[in-house]
Amino acid sequence: MRSHYCGGINESHIDQDVTLCGWVHRRRDHGGVIFLDLRDRDGIAQVVFNPEAAESFAIAEKVRSEFVIQVSGRVRRRPAGTENNTMVTGQVEVVCHEVSILNAAATPPFPLDEHVDVGEDVRLRYRFIDLRRPEMLKRLRFRSRVTSYMRNFLDSNGFMDVETPILTRATPEGARDYLVPSRTHEGSFFALPQSPQLFKQLLMVSGADRYYQIAKCFRDEDLRADRQPEFTQIDIEASFIDEEGLMGLTETMMRDLFREVMQVDLPEFPRMPYAEAMRRFGSDKPDLRIPLELVDVGELVANVDFKVFAGPARDPKGRVAALRVPKGGELTRKQIDDYTKYVGIYGAKGLAYIKVNELSKGAEGLQSPIVKFLGDEVALAVVERAGAEDGDIVFFGADRATVVNEALGALRVRIGHDMNLLTREWAPLWVVDFPMFEETPDGGLTPIHHPFTAPACTADELAAAPAAALSRAYDMVLNGTELGGGSIRIHDATMQSTVFRTLGIDDEEAQAKFGFLLDALKYGCPPHGGLAFGLDRLIMLMTGASSIRDVIAFPKTQSATCLMTQAPGVVEDKQLKELHIRLRRSALTSAGDAATDGAKPQG
Ligand code: AMO
Ligand code: AMP
Repeated sequence: MRSHYCGGINESHIDQDVTLCGWVHRRRDHGGVIFLDLRDRDGIAQVVFNPEAAESFAIAEKVRSEFVIQVSGRVRRRPAGTENNTMVTGQVEVVCHEVSILNAAATPPFPLDEHVDVGEDVRLRYRFIDLRRPEMLKRLRFRSRVTSYMRNFLDSNGFMDVETPILTRATPEGARDYLVPSRTHEGSFFALPQSPQLFKQLLMVSGADRYYQIAKCFRDEDLRADRQPEFTQIDIEASFIDEEGLMGLTETMMRDLFREVMQVDLPEFPRMPYAEAMRRFGSDKPDLRIPLELVDVGELVANVDFKVFAGPARDPKGRVAALRVPKGGELTRKQIDDYTKYVGIYGAKGLAYIKVNELSKGAEGLQSPIVKFLGDEVALAVVERAGAEDGDIVFFGADRATVVNEALGALRVRIGHDMNLLTREWAPLWVVDFPMFEETPDGGLTPIHHPFTAPACTADELAAAPAAALSRAYDMVLNGTELGGGSIRIHDATMQSTVFRTLGIDDEEAQAKFGFLLDALKYGCPPHGGLAFGLDRLIMLMTGASSIRDVIAFPKTQSATCLMTQAPGVVEDKQLKELHIRLRRSALTSAGDAATDGAKPQG
C-alpha cells in the first residue's frame, strides 16, 4: 500500500512519486492551502494540498487528527524559508495528487504532542494511542534493537535459547508468588516463576552448557519506579566457568552493546566488595557518578554525652557516619529541613549537621545545633575526619547501621542531583563479595541473593559461622541501579543441604520444595554459574526514561493493575467452582472494589 515510510522521505526523493500511509498528526489551513503532517512508525512527513486538485483538497478538508489515510504525491524541496531543520524530513514536502481515507478516528483522549502533559492513568487506559507518540515508539524500537543485539552476542558465544515453563513451582527470589489454581488437581496451585533460576541450573545438569533466555518473570512485590510485577530478564547460565569468566563475558556484552547502539564507550568496570560499598556509599548499588562519601566517625563520638551519637557508636549493630558536602554551607534552613524530612522516609530520626564557616577559628568557626552536645574537641575531630573545609556542611546519621546506610546513602544521591555534582554520564561497576545471608527482623537468616548461591567457604565453615560467610555472587550496577546479578551456584548436594538447614529449611521441607534440585545435584551436576539482567531497567537507563513503565509496551500501574484491560478482574462463579475456589466475604468485597478501582487514576 505504500512506497516509503513517512519518516524516510528526504532530499534524495525530490521529483519522485511516493505513496505514504499513516495517521494525521496535525492539520493546518494556510490561506487556501492545507498542510497535513502525516505520521507513521518512522516519523512525520509534510503533505501539501492545493485547491486546484479539487478532489484531494475536499478530502483533506474533511480529515481530522488521527484519521488513517493513504497519500500519493510528488516530493519537492520546501520553498526557501519554510524548511524545518528540527525534522529529518524538514527539507522536503509531498505535493498530494491523490488521497484516500482508510479509516476515520474519534477525537483522541489526549493530543499526541510530546509537549502536552497527560496524566499517566489516561495514557495507560489508552495505551494503544499513547504508544503512537514518537518518543514511545522510539523506545520500543530501541528495546527491540537491544534484545536483538544481545541475542546475536549470546548466539555467537555459543549460548542457546531455551524456553522454561511459566506454570511451575515457586522459585524463591525474595518476593511473593503469583499463583494459578489447578482445575485438575483440587487445592493445588502453580506458581509463576520469579525467575527461571532452577530450570536453568537443571539445564546445566543436562549438559546444555550455555543457556540464555529473554524470560518473563513474575513477582508480587511492592512496586516502585524501577519495578514491575511482570518484567523481563536476559537470563544467562553456563557450565565449567568461574566468576571471572562470567563477569568478563557479560561485561564485554554490555560494553559492546553500549558502543553498538549508543556510541558510548563505557569504561572498564571496577570491582568493589560489598562491605566497601556499604561503608563508603551506604548502598550495595552505589552511584559512582556522585563524588560524595560516607565516613565513619563512631569511635570519635563513643564517649560523648550526646546519647543520639554515643548510643549507636557503642552498639555493634549501630553506625555513626558523616557525609561531607562541599560548598554545602550555602544550604538554607529550609533545604536542611527538607533533607531531614527526606531521610525520615528511610527511618532516620533526625539529621544532625555542622556547617564549617571558618576552620581557622576552631570550634567558633563551626555552626551547628550539635557542637554544644559534642564538645569543641570532638566537633573539630569529626569535621576533620570528614575532610571538611570552609564553606562545607557535614551531615550525620546515627542509628542502626542499616538505617544510617539507607538514609545517608539516599541523601548522598539526592544532594548529588540537587547540587549538580555528577562527574560523568556513565558509572558502571561490579559489586562482589556479598555476604551469603542477612539477618531478618526476627533474628533468622535470609539469603542475600537466593539459596542456590555458592559460598566462598566450605560447608563446615559455613555451618560454623553463617553470618560471616561470603558468597560467590556479583551484581552489575550502573548509575546507582542494579542492572543484573548472579553467582556461581552450589553444585554439590551436601553444600546445598547445609545452606537450606542454615536458612531453617529442614531436610523434609527441602525435599518437598526442592527435591528435584537435590536429586539433580546427585546425578553429575557440573560446576556452573550465571546471572540475569533486568532488561526493562537497562532500557530505562539507556533511554533516560524516568520510569520502567515508559519502556514496557503494556505495563501495570503502581498497584499492579492494567488500566486498559482492567486486569485483574472478577471471574464468574462457574469458573471459580471448576477451580475449586470459594471466595471469602472480604475477598468478594475487595474483588468488587478492584473491578471498579481499575477505572480510577493510579500508579
Ligand atoms: P535478581 O532477583 O537479582 O536475580 O534479578 C535480576 C535482575 O532483574 C531485575 N529485576 C526487576 N526488574 C523489574 N521489576 C522487578 N520487579 C525486578 N526484580 C528484579 C533487576 C535484577 O538485577 N535468578 C537470579 C539471577 C541469577 O542468579 O542468575 C535473579 O532473578 O535488574
Ligand atoms: P535533638 O537533641 O533530638 O534535638 O537532636 C539534635 C540534632 O541531632 C538535630 O539536628 C537532629 O536532627 C539530630 N538528630 C537526632 N537524631 C538523629 C539521628 N539518629 N541521626 C542523626 N542526627 C540526629
